[in-house]
Amino acid sequence: MKNILLTGALGQLGSELSAALRSQYGVTNVVATDVRQQESSGGAGTGPFYQLDSRDGRLLAEIIRKHRIDTIFHLAALLSAVAERDPQRAWEINMSGLYTVLEVAREEGCAVFTPSSIAAFGPTTLKDFTPQDTLQRPTSIYGVTKVAGELLCDYYYHRFGVDTRGVRYPGIISNVTMPGGGTTDYAVEIYYAAVTEGRYKCFLKGDTYLAMMYMPDAVKAAIDLMEADPARLRHRNSFNVSAMSFCPEDQAAYIRRYLPAFELTYEIDPVRQALANTWPNSLEDYAARVEWDWKPSFDLEGMTVDMLTVLTERLATNPAGRGGT
Ligand SMILES: NC(=O)c1ccc[n+]([C@@H]2O[C@H](COP(=O)([O-])OP(=O)(O)OC[C@H]3O[C@@H](n4cnc5c(N)ncnc54)[C@H](O)[C@@H]3O)[C@@H](O)[C@H]2O)c1
Repeated sequence: MKNILLTGALGQLGSELSAALRSQYGVTNVVATDVRQQESSGGAGTGPFYQLDSRDGRLLAEIIRKHRIDTIFHLAALLSAVAERDPQRAWEINMSGLYTVLEVAREEGCAVFTPSSIAAFGPTTLKDFTPQDTLQRPTSIYGVTKVAGELLCDYYYHRFGVDTRGVRYPGIISNVTMPGGGTTDYAVEIYYAAVTEGRYKCFLKGDTYLAMMYMPDAVKAAIDLMEADPARLRHRNSFNVSAMSFCPEDQAAYIRRYLPAFELTYEIDPVRQALANTWPNSLEDYAARVEWDWKPSFDLEGMTVDMLTVLTERLATNPAGRGGT
């Protein structure tokens, strides 16, 4: 990778991935784009930025030629809970956006990273240690777009030779940019609430286990996969990547080790609970470990210590500082 472009760069993942890419590959070699305008203190930080709807192939191709882009991280998407509120729009943004990016990548000779998700599995998939290659019959529109996206990326690789790669992310926990409307958002909000209020009202049931990952590992997975030797890759656009599995009660127990008075109560959101009920508790990720040496650094304990430390320091100096965007 020499010159990189991100779509959806102001989101939860994009804001931290763009910063990591800029420190590794050079600020001017990483072009951030998003459908939203960047605020002056925006999460993507300093460096080239364009306001771009990922469905606008003409402008995307123009930016790619101007900056001699060779690799696209396509992160623009509507997440599970937002998508379920407007399935037609979710299909349009998630699928037309991906198709446009793949077409431009084909014409301009770019590699493409596209994240899939644990939402690409469904109620008929094995929930514990969900295998790499298994049944995928998701029942949410978000999951449908993720499976279709995996297949479309595979197609562009086999049919046109576009270097497409991707991982199935679990729920991502982070402290720079707040999550954008997914089912695992509770696992981020709980740390902010613990530090600021000492209590949290959770929208998923206390025993809902889900696969999760801390942001530094999510960033590392994206970069390592795109740098991996293509000769070793038997899979392309659907690597399971696992880091940890927990439920809200587990997370609260770890928080109480450091904040003993922390209280967890519940107000269940039936839509997000229904989504979570169909997703894996944990993932088997042998293919990622063998084909590109995937190995996460954070477990629930390490992540909890880091989240509470970072948030306590930040919110002590700036009580309104919930995040970059
Ligand atoms: N965050 C997670 O827990 C998680 C888990 C699994 C997979 N993923 C995947 O990772 C990717 C990034 O997710 P995220 O958490 O950063 O999402 P997010 O909602 O935080 O950010 C998405 C960004 O895309 C932008 N966007 C929306 N529509 C757009 C359009 N038409 N054109 C250009 N930009 C547009 C939004 O403004 C936003 O900044 C997505 O593909 C998501 O499905 C995320």
